[in-house]
Amino acid sequence: MAISIKISKTNQSRIKECDFENIEFGKIFSDHMFRVDYKDGMWQNPEILPYGNISISPALSSLHYGQAVFEGMKAFKDPSGNPQLFRPLDNYKRINQSAYRMGMPAITEELFIEGLSQLVKLDQDWIPTKEGSALYLRPFMFATDDFVGVRPSVNYTFMIFCCPVNSYYPKPIRVKVEKTYVRAFKGGVGFAKAAGNYGMSMLPTMEAKKEGFDQIVWTDGEEHKYVEESGTTNLFFVLNDKTVLTPEIDGNILQGVTRDSCIKLLREGGYDVVEKKISLKEIADAFNEGLLTDAFGTGTAALIAKIESIYNEGENYILPNAEDRKVSNWLYKKLSDVQTSKIIDTHNWVYQLV
Ligand code: COI
Repeated sequence: MAISIKISKTNQSRIKECDFENIEFGKIFSDHMFRVDYKDGMWQNPEILPYGNISISPALSSLHYGQAVFEGMKAFKDPSGNPQLFRPLDNYKRINQSAYRMGMPAITEELFIEGLSQLVKLDQDWIPTKEGSALYLRPFMFATDDFVGVRPSVNYTFMIFCCPVNSYYPKPIRVKVEKTYVRAFKGGVGFAKAAGNYGMSMLPTMEAKKEGFDQIVWTDGEEHKYVEESGTTNLFFVLNDKTVLTPEIDGNILQGVTRDSCIKLLREGGYDVVEKKISLKEIADAFNEGLLTDAFGTGTAALIAKIESIYNEGENYILPNAEDRKVSNWLYKKLSDVQTSKIIDTHNWVYQLV
C-alpha cells in the first residue's frame, strides 16, 4: 500500500533570496523538509512541511549519547529540466547499516524513497543547473527520548532537508597524513555514517588547518602505516595514469556511493583499479619514482576533489597541476555527465522523478 505523506506547503517561498551564482556549501536551505517519527515501535505521521527549526528537549538522548546517523545525496536536472536522484537505493541501504550499528531502527524503503521523491519534486526549482552544482540532500535519523540514562532510545525522528550547493572544495586540496589521532579500528563504527565519526574529526582537522592544510588523511589505528580515508572523502591514488589504487572496504572506511561509482566508471574506461591496503611507504615510493600522477578524494559533497599535495612527516608530495590530471579530469566529467543525464546511464543509477 502506498504511504500517504501529509504535505503543508509554505506560503512564502524563499527562492528569490537565493543567489544561485554564488552559493556557499551548506548554508542555504530549500523551502520544505520531510519528517517522520518513530513511536510505539513504528514510523508514524510522515509529513512534508516548511523548512524550519524543530523543538527538542534538553535531555534529547542523541545530544548526549550520539545515536545519530545521516546520509549525503544529490538531486540533479536532466537536459530537459526534469529532476532526478543519483543511486538513492544505495544511500537507503547505507543509512540502515549505520542505524543498525548504532542500535537504531531501520527506516523503511518506502518512507525513504517516497519522502525524498516528494520533497525533491516539490522543491525542484531549487535544483541549480550550473556545472558542478546540485541540490544536496541530507537524510538523517536521531534518537529523541528525553531520558538521561544510557540505553537505546525508544523514540526516533527521521528527516530530510535540501541545500542548493556548488562544489564542496572550490580548488585542489592540501592534505596532511594524520598519525596522532585515530578515526576507526576493528569492530568500531568506521563504516557507519554516524555523527560521532565527524565530531571526533574536528580537533585533528582544526589542528591541520592551523598548519595550512585543508584536510587530513586518516591512517589505520594500529600502526599508522596504511591510509584509510580523508575527513570528507574516500581516497584514490593514480600510478602512471593507468593503475588506480584505493583502500579496500575493511569495516573501517565509509562504503562511499561515489567511490563505488568511480571504481565502476574507471574500470569501464580501461583503468586498472586495485582495492587493497595502501601503505604510506607505497605512496612515498611512487612519488619518489615519479609514478604518482594523480590523487583525489571522492564523495557525494566533494564529488572528485583533486589533491594538490600530501604532507607526511616532514615530506610534502606535490602532485601535477590540476589541469594536467588525466584521470581525475576524465572521471569528473564522466560522473557528472551520468548524474545529469548528458550521457546514457548504463548502470541504472539515475532515478527519475517524473
Ligand atoms: C557527503 O559527501 O555527503 C558527506 O556527508 C561529507 C560531508 C563532509 C559533507
